[in-house]
Parts: sequence; structure tokens; C-alpha cells
Amino acid sequence: MAESQISTETSIPTTTLPAAEVVNKMTSPEPPTTAIPQTNGILSNGVASEHTPTPTPAETKQASTTIAPSEPTLPAYAAAISEAADQDDTPLFSPTLISDETKATLPTGYTIRPLRRSDYFGGYLPTLRVLTTVGEPTQAEFDARYDFISSRNDTYYILVICDESGTVVGTGAVIVERKFIHNMGLVGHIEDIAVAKNQQGKKLGLRIIQALDSVAEKVGCYKSILDCSEANEGFYVKCGFKRAGLEMAHYYDTTPKI
Ligand SMILES: CC(C)(COP(=O)(O)OP(=O)(O)OC[C@H]1O[C@@H](n2cnc3c(N)ncnc32)[C@H](O)[C@@H]1OP(=O)(O)O)[C@@H](O)C(=O)NCCC(=O)NCCS
Repeated sequence: MAESQISTETSIPTTTLPAAEVVNKMTSPEPPTTAIPQTNGILSNGVASEHTPTPTPAETKQASTTIAPSEPTLPAYAAAISEAADQDDTPLFSPTLISDETKATLPTGYTIRPLRRSDYFGGYLPTLRVLTTVGEPTQAEFDARYDFISSRNDTYYILVICDESGTVVGTGAVIVERKFIHNMGLVGHIEDIAVAKNQQGKKLGLRIIQALDSVAEKVGCYKSILDCSEANEGFYVKCGFKRAGLEMAHYYDTTPKI
């Protein structure tokens, strides 16, 4: 990937990222949240829930081990990882990497935390749909991807902001790339920033970027880069980023093979 540029939600191919030589292990996992509050199937981020009724954590745990026959067959590696993975709803990475300053500046009642497997339920996927196409992943597909990412928890740092009801209303990620250049330098790739439509303008986007910035700095990245549209350039400038180059993309008409 080029040294620096700006565009929208392009992802660095995960295949280019070396797997885990562990930099950050989870040190203080938070307890699972309670069930996601909903009213008549509408989440508090203004989006109709696609998963009703809301399962209890116990139901979630049980459901995550059950794959309905009609669901697509998962790659062998995904099934194996799912099988082996810790079924507790532990956070994706250590919450201590999220700065106290960012936590303190959130609106009253809002929280920021690492992604959890149980975020399949609630506002996480609807929030991502503000950004781009997400599809309709089954819980098994979501769990398999979550487990893969979780097995590389020194590479993928995905966080969420929840409103007073515990519903996810914002999200963002930093993916840490290990380079040979710059003395085996680390670069943070900021990706998939999204704030639910009815929550925009509350500085949640800014807090997400600040939190990701602090994660990248704490794990030792010498810089973070991102792609965005011209329409969002002003937002990232307010977040302390500056234009640095030009993004180029080559899209392929293919589906995931790994
Ligand atoms: C872009 C996005 C993340 C901003 O989130 P947000 O929570 O609404 O933004 P904030 O309230 O944190 O804004 C912080 C500052 O940036 C400004 N800002 C927000 N969006 C902006 C934009 N598109 N252009 C210029 N400035 C913008 C705000 O006015 C605010 O400025 P202020 O500090 O002077 O008041 C959100 O609008 C969103 O999710 N959009 C759809 C998905 C998307 O485009 N994601 C980015 C992909 S690269």
C-alpha cells in the first residue's frame, strides 16, 4: 500500500498482514454487556433490528455453536477456529488501549469499548451500513470472521461507541501493518469509520478517531493513514489528519477465497 493517501473504506488485504507475534494480549477483559434494549424491533440508533427477539447472553452463546443446515458452508479453517475459540464474550483487544481522555469526553451515558462477538446482535451491522454495503451475514459467518480477527488480536483493533441503552451507534478500526521499512516499522490503517445517522454531529466520529489514534500510538505505530472521499476530508482535518498523496484502487470481480 502506498505510504499515505486518502479515499473511502478501502481495505488493506488481510493476506498481506503477517500473523501474530503477539504485541498486545488482552489484560483486563470487561464483563459482557446485558441484552440490547429494543422497542418494537427498532434499535435506539434508529434502525429496525433484523434480529428479534433479542437473545440473552446464554442464548447467544448457545446459538453461536449451532449452524442451521440452510446456512452456507464455511471454509474449513473458519469452522476450526470457531470450534477452538474461547466462547466467552471477551473484548477483541485490551480495553486499556482506549485512552481515558477519550472515554471522559463522550456524551453522558455513552461508552466506548472493543468489539465483542455478541455485537452481531444490536447496532453494529446497522451502523456499518451507514458507510457501505454489508450484506446479511448469518451469526455463524459473523462468529467465524470474529474468531479469525480475534486470533490476530495484535493486528485488528475494532472499537464501538454505545449510547445510553447499550446500542452500538459508532464504530471504527485500526489495522496494524508490520513493515520491513522504517526499521521494521508499524503503520496503522484506519478503516470503516461509521456513526449511525441519527447520532452524527455529536463528536462521536471525532472520539472514534481519537481512540484509534491512541491505540495506534500505544502499540507503536509511527503513523496512521486512511482513505476518504473529498466530502469527508474536512472531518478528518478536524481530527488532525492532513492530505498526503493520492489513493489508487483496482477492484476485482471475485469473492473471498481465504
Ligand atoms: C463522517 C462521520 C464518521 C463523522 O462522524 P460525526 O460523529 O458525525 O462527526 P463529529 O460530530 O465527530 O464531527 C467532528 C467535527 O468534524 C466536522 N465534520 C463532520 N463531518 C464532516 C464532513 N463530512 N465534512 C467536514 N466537516 C465535518 C463536524 O462539524 C465537527 O466539527 P466541529 O468540531 O467544528 O464542530 C459520519 O458522518 C459518518 O459516519 N458518515 C457516514 C460514513 C462515512 O462516510 N464514514 C467515513 C468513511 S471514510
